[in-house]
Amino acid sequence: MSLFEVYPLFDITPVKAKDVFVYDEKGTKFLDLYGGHAVISIGHSHPHYVKSLTSQLQQIGFYSNSIQNPLQVKLANKLAGLSKCEDYQLFLCNSGAEANENALKLASFQTGRKKVIAFKNSFHGRTSAAVAVTDNPKIVAPINAQQEVEYIELGDLISVEKALQKNDVCAVIVECIQGVGGLDESTTGFYQGLEILTKKYGALLIIDEVQSGFGRTGDFFAFQKHGIEPDIISMAKGMGNGFPIGGILIHPSIKASYGLLGTTFGGNHLACAASLSVLEVIENESLMSNAAKMATYFIEKAKSIPKLKTIKGRGLMLGLEFDFPVSELRKTLIYKHHIFTGSASNSNLLRILPPLTIQKQHLDIFFEALYSEL
Ligand SMILES: Cc1ncc(COP(=O)(O)O)c(C=O)c1O
Repeated sequence: MSLFEVYPLFDITPVKAKDVFVYDEKGTKFLDLYGGHAVISIGHSHPHYVKSLTSQLQQIGFYSNSIQNPLQVKLANKLAGLSKCEDYQLFLCNSGAEANENALKLASFQTGRKKVIAFKNSFHGRTSAAVAVTDNPKIVAPINAQQEVEYIELGDLISVEKALQKNDVCAVIVECIQGVGGLDESTTGFYQGLEILTKKYGALLIIDEVQSGFGRTGDFFAFQKHGIEPDIISMAKGMGNGFPIGGILIHPSIKASYGLLGTTFGGNHLACAASLSVLEVIENESLMSNAAKMATYFIEKAKSIPKLKTIKGRGLMLGLEFDFPVSELRKTLIYKHHIFTGSASNSNLLRILPPLTIQKQHLDIFFEALYSEL
């Protein structure tokens, strides 16, 4: 049987990984400044993570959502403490798209409406409603295109209000810092404006923290810098350090009822153990403050990179925008210097999404490689 080839692949086969390094089958060591697409939060194969998952698997790995699972409650409590979103309710699922799918569905149930406002250059996943609010027609199939979505320029509150005035919008969905779209972020005034306007017109504000959440920006969630209180927060990538888990945090004003949402695998024992150990390591190793510190170091050093147009992003969700397409540079970094970096829909942007455990000496390896090529 052949694989359904939807991914253009680099010719590298990782077989082992430890903290910020990945090793291929020949033993070549790669510096991971991509984190498997912002997924690796506490470093590859962290000993506490490995121990937690191993011992959980020896007890019970999975049972359905028809029984008591105290690990879900433990995860919710730990998450409440670290995220400071104490009053929110937690619903667990398996991926970022699924988190947004449930967030949009819940907003529609709650308001009885079906139109959504999303933003230009957004990416929210590939399931039905999530892909419909993703600004990339190439990945929206005709079956997804039936959703009612209005795309507005990030930062354009006037158009948001105009769209909301028809009183048919169930949700405004936004990434505080756009990931795939290229690390654009609007102003605090804009995000606060979204909160005020959604309340005024009876819509819900969904903040997509799938990529920016779980400490990546130096705050637990990126929206917290703007002092807002979203109705729903979606999470995934860094949540399980590679174990598939996603979730939404739901404002206390939204009430649950049996059967409203559901999943077979979501919130299983192994996933909860993975995410709990991620939170424990984030706390014990002060990884949020490390993310902020390393970002300051990175941004300072990046200022002297030749041919650099702008430095974008925040925390360890960073981008270097050059005045040329970076695909060849990325290949050189991987094959010659053994450094993984990420790309974006903006072809001139190199994305830096390392594990939150990254240290200055690792970033120095990257800068030396970059200086030698530019
Ligand atoms: C902001 C954002 N939302 C949603 C998703 C979709 O997540 P997943 O691939 O886990 O479905 C992504 C993935 O890149 C993302 O960056």
